[in-house]
Amino acid sequence: MTQTEIIYDETLVPAYTLPDPLVGLNGRPVTDAADWWARRRPEILRLFEEEVYGRTPRQTVSVRYEETEHADSALDGRAVRKQVTLHFGDAADGPAMHLLLYLPANATGPVPCFLGLNFSGNHTIHPDPAIPISTEWMRPNPQAGIVDNRATEASRGSSASRWSVERILERGYGLATAYCGDLDPDFDDGFQNGVHPLFYATGQSRPAADEWGALGAWAWGLSRALDYLEMDNAVDAGRVAVLGHSRLGKAALWAGAQDERFGLVISNDSGCGGAALARRRFGETVERINTTFPHWFCANHQRYNGNEDALPVDQHMLLALVAPRPLYVASAAEDLWADPLGEFLGAAGASPVYRLLGTDGLATDEMPADVSSAIHQPITSRIGHHIRAGGHDVKAYDWERFMDFADKHLTGE
Ligand code: GCU
Repeated sequence: MTQTEIIYDETLVPAYTLPDPLVGLNGRPVTDAADWWARRRPEILRLFEEEVYGRTPRQTVSVRYEETEHADSALDGRAVRKQVTLHFGDAADGPAMHLLLYLPANATGPVPCFLGLNFSGNHTIHPDPAIPISTEWMRPNPQAGIVDNRATEASRGSSASRWSVERILERGYGLATAYCGDLDPDFDDGFQNGVHPLFYATGQSRPAADEWGALGAWAWGLSRALDYLEMDNAVDAGRVAVLGHSRLGKAALWAGAQDERFGLVISNDSGCGGAALARRRFGETVERINTTFPHWFCANHQRYNGNEDALPVDQHMLLALVAPRPLYVASAAEDLWADPLGEFLGAAGASPVYRLLGTDGLATDEMPADVSSAIHQPITSRIGHHIRAGGHDVKAYDWERFMDFADKHLTGE
């Protein structure tokens, strides 16, 4: 049923029953960890592929790595900076992802890293003049210096407040980032640009109903970035945290769910299609997201417009695919569109799988009824969580908590 009103009132959330991550489609309960790994986990992964994000191609494409820049003393001596372009496929004008990497200059060995895509080009994450202005298509944003869908010099550093670069380096971590539009520009063009066409079978001109959309392509790119990090001796690739904000948080979760090489997975304000339970229909709904962003999910996902209860999964099961690896779900109190309580309940719903696999999951199942009384009280069990004061954004507060959590669960410091 089409829901025209957006629900922002807890009393209007409809009654719902979540699918049990520990009961198979055939009704058989998961008995132990071996049963989870052999039967239920692959089943849940397949359901997310077929019904939500679309299947990531199994075949590989050739990747050529080109180091375009390297500075041993960047950011006033704080960082080693590397810029590496990953060229996908054999065509000279094929899609390419430009990876920007900052590593602490004082590192004495391989460093753990945060890896996340950015919304508007690498040059927006820091005013560092050595980062080339992205020439790719950008979503309109005049305030941030985007003119006629292209970045201008005015956009340099425009999202610096969302990337605590100096603090990350100071705390001993590296940071790797790339522009999501390098993988797939964020508009509905029927999947003619970006990486999708590289994988079309002869005669195919768009992904099939169960094949990947933009979120799938972004997640794929995160794994390709990790392929590079694995080859870089300065990086401890066994300790890479994949993270993202909002739509890119959805992509980070999907990447972390599929690619078990990621040592830690962090979602910031990922909301609908991310950490928030779809069945709550609080804030953004499946129908709304599929209408505004028809290119994010697979075509099959449209079946669940106004029909969330028919989904064979809900987002707690996406989070459960990360188990038993550490997972952090961050929300913001005023970001009702992303449903902070729904994100918390997604994390809580993944907990039984973490416990089955011998970890503590989320240390509490109870969220205070009033979201505001939970503000700035991070939970740091194997599934971590916080609610920051304020709205939809990534703030220094979020980064400090991500690093505290990584210190505890990724690097053990
Ligand atoms: C929109 C969209 C959200 C998304 C957000 C963002 O608000 O509806 O699903 O998370 O953009 O990416 O900032």
